[in-house]
Amino acid sequence: MATRKKVHAPSKVKARPQASAKKVVNARSQKPADKANGNGLPQPSTKPWGQAGKALDGVKILDFTHVQSGPTCTQLLAYMGADVIKVERPGVGDITRGQLRDVKGADSLYFTMLNGNKRSITIDSKNPKGKEILNRLIKHCDVLVENFAPGALDRMGLTWEHIHKTNPRMIVASVKGFGPGPYEDCKVYENVAQCAGGAASTTGFREGPPLVTGAQIGDSGTGLHLAFGIVTALYQRIRTGRGQKVLCAMQDGVLNLARVKLRDQQRLTHGPLTEYSQYGEGVAFGKAVPRAGNDSGGGQPGWILKCKGWESDPDAYIYFITQAPVWGPICDLIGKPEWKTDADYATPPARLPRLKHIFSTIEAWTMTKTKFEVMEICNQHDIPVGPILSMKEIAEEKSLRDTGTVVEVDHPGRGKYLTVGNPVKMSDSITEVTRSPLLGEHTEEILIKVLGYSAKDFAEIKASGAITPPEKPAKAEAA
Ligand code: COA
Repeated sequence: MATRKKVHAPSKVKARPQASAKKVVNARSQKPADKANGNGLPQPSTKPWGQAGKALDGVKILDFTHVQSGPTCTQLLAYMGADVIKVERPGVGDITRGQLRDVKGADSLYFTMLNGNKRSITIDSKNPKGKEILNRLIKHCDVLVENFAPGALDRMGLTWEHIHKTNPRMIVASVKGFGPGPYEDCKVYENVAQCAGGAASTTGFREGPPLVTGAQIGDSGTGLHLAFGIVTALYQRIRTGRGQKVLCAMQDGVLNLARVKLRDQQRLTHGPLTEYSQYGEGVAFGKAVPRAGNDSGGGQPGWILKCKGWESDPDAYIYFITQAPVWGPICDLIGKPEWKTDADYATPPARLPRLKHIFSTIEAWTMTKTKFEVMEICNQHDIPVGPILSMKEIAEEKSLRDTGTVVEVDHPGRGKYLTVGNPVKMSDSITEVTRSPLLGEHTEEILIKVLGYSAKDFAEIKASGAITPPEKPAKAEAA
């Protein structure tokens, strides 16, 4: 039984019986009186908040994902209450189970932190009996999510045509590296997407090479986009009754997150980007958006400044924004009250060519305080600042534990570990984070209880090799 950690759930929360999407369809075609009453929706629940089930209760996901992008998507859907059945190759499973292992023999954190709240079934999708089971799962589920290399799903025989014929209501959601075009057949990982989506060319310092960021905007970012696509496709299905293909290319997902840089590319044709510090430094712009170091992306200049202890602590820094409305308090704090009226400093345009000097003056002040002291002082004056938090500090941050953003769960193979809970908090759909499943932990349960196979069928399936790893060839006897 998975260890459950209830997050912000009122005590003794019990999920109500699952309300299927089909019921909602029926509800929407009710009598005109109901329509007038609430746009065809059911009467508002009178149950206490958080006790009317979960947002995606009743939604069944056939999860064919692996590595990071797809699992991010299906874990979010599971956090929202969907029943996620993760299909894995017998004996092998998701490759990340064994990648970056820190505890010998146990599922890695790479896997456990991306596959919470799911059930695992092992199926060899190329075994005839395995194909039969998959077809049953296709009939049973609402959404198939996959992020195989281009063509892999088709090679399993699971073409869109086949799936749509088997279950016309099924939504087939895919992550691919690139959309249709010259690169559509390429295999893609995180940093490839960061580079192809425009993020790397605009990240880093002007004098240095392009940089990738530690936030997994290619993988997790695309998983997020896909989850959004799936939920909207489920919503459209309420009207149309049919499924559809949902595709999110990692290049597109990264570009969507980097859209302000495409904005700047177009602005560049009309003149220099005045909020970039290179403008103030008199460095000419080229033809493409340059790397902006720690310049803030908006119209309010910002930079990362050293704080007390920076000599030994690599994270003793703060992001400081010189927002125009609080320029006066900033000047007072850093001991430059004259800058409030000095024509060279009093207005944002006058400050633009002097940002380097301004930030080094502010830094002389921040270096006398810890990043938390700077934050406390600045917050009193509504000056926006952000301490550079290390992952150690985040792991230990009480407020993140209290909100369920960082959750500790127990795992039979590795003991307690931290995971990131649901970053989206909903007042009527409370997330309970459960540990990731062991490989094939729910195979029997899903075959018998979900798909209706008998005990005899189950024995036959087992013997067919569809759910078990292929037998190792017997060793030749020693002569
Ligand atoms: N039973 C039998 N075979 C299975 C199986 C199962 N349950 N699950 C997977 N396989 C097979 C596939 O059919 C495929 O075989 P084939 O190529 O012979 O047809 C094989 O496993 C490998 O799948 P593939 O997706 O190609 O894995 P990979 O490790 O070679 O590539 C990626 C990994 C991530 C590069 C690739 O999947 C990809 O580009 N995905 C799309 C983009 C993406 O999501 N990238 C980010 C990942 S975080």
